[in-house]
Amino acid sequence: MSSIRLAVIGCGAAARACHLPALPQVTGARLTALVDPDAAHAEGAFQVYREYGGSGSPQPATSWQEALGSFDAAVVAVPHTRHAQLADDLLRHGKHVLMEKPMTTSPADAEMLLKTAADHPGTVLAMAHPRRLFPAYAWVHRLIRNGALGTVKRVHWTEGHPYSWEPVTWSMFDRRLAHGGVLTDTGSHVFDSLFWWLGEDMTLMDHQDDAMGGLDSDSRTWLRFGTVDVIVELSRLRPLGTCCTITGTEAEVTIGTDFPAGECTLVTRSGEVLHRGDVAPIAPAQGEWEALFVEQLENFAAACGPQAVAPYSTAEDGKRVVDLIDACYHGPARRAAPQPWTVNRTRSAA
Ligand SMILES: NC(=O)c1ccc[n+]([C@@H]2O[C@H](COP(=O)([O-])OP(=O)(O)OC[C@H]3O[C@@H](n4cnc5c(N)ncnc54)[C@H](O)[C@@H]3O)[C@@H](O)[C@H]2O)c1
Repeated sequence: MSSIRLAVIGCGAAARACHLPALPQVTGARLTALVDPDAAHAEGAFQVYREYGGSGSPQPATSWQEALGSFDAAVVAVPHTRHAQLADDLLRHGKHVLMEKPMTTSPADAEMLLKTAADHPGTVLAMAHPRRLFPAYAWVHRLIRNGALGTVKRVHWTEGHPYSWEPVTWSMFDRRLAHGGVLTDTGSHVFDSLFWWLGEDMTLMDHQDDAMGGLDSDSRTWLRFGTVDVIVELSRLRPLGTCCTITGTEAEVTIGTDFPAGECTLVTRSGEVLHRGDVAPIAPAQGEWEALFVEQLENFAAACGPQAVAPYSTAEDGKRVVDLIDACYHGPARRAAPQPWTVNRTRSAA
């Protein structure tokens, strides 16, 4: 079976934790290039690939131009503010792109990528939104779609703990690379999931974050999807847990938002417990971490192939998330998070 030649561009933590352990098991794509301006990062990524049974000799390169002839498609796993220009260049050179989240850091850049992809019809621009393949998220999607919850009324999402991801550079903390903090990083997963579950009819009601010109570590967003009220609380500082509760007129479902989800419950309005415990995966959702990324890459490869299979998450999905994050940071609904210490100082000064 023919497989596409794949470059991993950006050989940091996401490449090593998500894509490279999966690649040896992917049949539709084979790794042919590892690109990173820091050669040691490409070498580190190659070691991970080998540890997981990867074969062949992917070309190490310090720029995508250097590796241009050795790949047809790329996973873009570079810092957020570098996504747009890199993907634009790749699409213009006829390369397919699987883009890490968030697609871009501005709506204008997201629009530009959609246009470039449309202007280069042979190319695929797909989003890496792997939570769609988490069993608990897919379960919620099914419960909403098949009416098991009745009419959905409320969603309350809390995801917060001291920051624990280990990027190999300052990409998540340097504003020039990260653009935003917890909302850009975790929020892109959360917002994509909400659009997937609840549809595109969304109004941003209120948003608070603690950015104060730097990166947000704490945020609280109130959204309305149709008639569903949604509260999203995110933190890189506070232990909020990792939990989402979706309340309908007939039943309420609660999931852990991490992988694996842990305790999930489905309880009817009358209090009958229909489910308690972890959720078994139903394809394409996957119960093993590596299998998630195998599935994501197989889907991307199939999207790039002659069957032109639909990607699990599209560039339009990516743009929707970028637009919402931007509206949170810069739109009229944004307010600075309360700063009780400032109030106290004002009081004592008065
Ligand atoms: N899907 C997920 O669950 C998930 C998880 C973590 C991170 N991510 C995303 O992956 C991306 C990378 O995050 P990370 O944690 O790996 O960061 P990181 O800092 O660990 O790695 C980034 C890598 O990109 C390299 N790089 C920088 N500019 C480059 C360029 N122009 N060309 C090639 N390489 C370049 C850096 O040298 C570094 O090796 C981000 O978009 C992040 O949001 C996704």
